[in-house]
Amino acid sequence: MGKGARVRDIRPGGKVEGLFCVSEKALRTTRNGAPFLVLTLSDNTGQIEARVWDNAQELGSGFDKGDIIFIEADAVEFNGQCQLKVNRCEQALDEEIDPSHFLPVSPCDLKKAWQVCSKAIKRVKEPNLALVLKEIFSDKATKKAFKEAPAAKRMHHAYIGGLLEHSASLVELVGLVVNRYPHLHSDLLVSASLLHDIGKIRELSWARPPIDYTDEGRLLGHIQLGVEIIDSACKGLGISCNSENILALKHIVLSHHGQKEFGSPVLPMTEEAVVFHMLDDLDAKLNFLSGLKMARGETKSWGWSDYQHLFERFFFLPPFSMQETDEKATEQGIHKGKGPIQPTLWDTDES
Ligand SMILES: [Fe+2]
Ligand SMILES: [Fe+2]
Repeated sequence: MGKGARVRDIRPGGKVEGLFCVSEKALRTTRNGAPFLVLTLSDNTGQIEARVWDNAQELGSGFDKGDIIFIEADAVEFNGQCQLKVNRCEQALDEEIDPSHFLPVSPCDLKKAWQVCSKAIKRVKEPNLALVLKEIFSDKATKKAFKEAPAAKRMHHAYIGGLLEHSASLVELVGLVVNRYPHLHSDLLVSASLLHDIGKIRELSWARPPIDYTDEGRLLGHIQLGVEIIDSACKGLGISCNSENILALKHIVLSHHGQKEFGSPVLPMTEEAVVFHMLDDLDAKLNFLSGLKMARGETKSWGWSDYQHLFERFFFLPPFSMQETDEKATEQGIHKGKGPIQPTLWDTDES
């Protein structure tokens, strides 16, 4: 089933059919004592008030706040606002739900981002790393999750496709650095770009809004989960979890946050781990700053962000115009998305 109607397209007088997220739900009674449901329904284009007047108790018992429901409704005007009079509603099945309809989505061209990653997977020549990458990404569910997952609940790349965008960005950053420092182990750094945050596919849930932590995500964290995914691929392939390059890869996964207080159980202790931590941090921070620029909205002057507790500072941000950013990006042929993402190099045509 497709998404159906989108909130921003709904006008009074129309019929509405489609999937919406229940942001608010309350059972009330009319002056005559008849129960009715007050709902706020949303998707990633906005939210709209809705009422269920008939069979309110029965229909309302089939779903809760946070669920995705399928509705049939009439759009009416009430107090100058568009409102939905819901005639039918039922909880949607998991397989009917596309999370990109209900959560923010990466501004990048995700198809190209995946092309960057799949090309990189094919380029890795070191036998064990190549086998592990192929084993992990040939699993359909893993590949789907890697393409969809956010890279965080907040902070950086906290949207559908965020993990893919971040990983593709790192593949390209690694390419630039290896060009300048050719003695670095390119296959190892490329593998780390693709796998350092792979644990996020189990750490986070995004099938229904909001993006949240799973139980194992909260209890173990994506670093531990990432190592488990690599180890289980090794076991499936019959290769040692501690062979030289696998060990070096797991060291990067474990140390990529750079410091123990940021969740890394070990500090970066190889050249590649030191480099990778810096690149990961660079990509995450620039994406975070892009978010701050977006949050300020369109402006023609420099200005201050709110105080950022995590960084213990305000940020001084440049003028921002969505149109200029898009034009610059299009000029450089780098992305088709909207918004102030940092320039990327991806221009691949290979699928
Ligand atoms: Fe991470
Ligand atoms: Fe990362």
